[in-house]
Amino acid sequence: MTIIIAVDGPAASGKGTLAKKLAKHFGFHHLDSGALYRLVGLGVAEAHGDPKKEADAVEAARHIDHRRADDPAIRTAAVGMLASIVSAHPAVRQALLDYQRTFAKLPPGTVIDGRDIGTVVCPDATVKLFVDASAEVRAHRRWLELSAANPGDPPDEARLLAEIQERDARDRTRAVAPLKPADDAQLLDTSNLDIDAAFAAALALVSPAV
Ligand code: C5P
Repeated sequence: MTIIIAVDGPAASGKGTLAKKLAKHFGFHHLDSGALYRLVGLGVAEAHGDPKKEADAVEAARHIDHRRADDPAIRTAAVGMLASIVSAHPAVRQALLDYQRTFAKLPPGTVIDGRDIGTVVCPDATVKLFVDASAEVRAHRRWLELSAANPGDPPDEARLLAEIQERDARDRTRAVAPLKPADDAQLLDTSNLDIDAAFAAALALVSPAV
């Protein structure tokens, strides 16, 4: 049976990095489900649609180009915000469900990170992590990331914090698949951990089940 590791958490909690490292460690496939919502957000923008309109967002969700999952264009704060808006539409979430569930079953195992993997996409995952960190720490990580990518034009950290808080609020309060730990998720707070320490902690939580 395929082993499924679900890694959920808010923006910049470290869940993506941890998921990637866990997948490499175990030799499993990795899916960043946030990239799917980002591709939908970008698709709506490119089609000059309105992300708040469900029909526009669903149209983009049906035409996702998975080859663009590594495109740096989906990593901007603006596309993150679009992703958060389109992801609140139930029909968009439904349109992405089959792809995620099919991916989840790839042998010998998968690591999927997102917001609702342990609660909705893979409620029967072998093991579930919920990765969190304070909003300030997460905003600072984003600032470091974006400044390194674009040294000539570092972003405003206060604005990043406000964006993270806005995105969190929308992700946590939406009616469908809100961001929250599954009842059987193991919590990992990375506020005071660097990447190596966070990975060691994640491995300690996950290994007994894998
Ligand atoms: O993880 P990332 O920041 O790339 O996700 C972008 C946005 O996509 C999130 O703010 C969230 O609104 C949405 N998302 C979601 N469900 C997931 C993954 C991401 O709603 N499983």
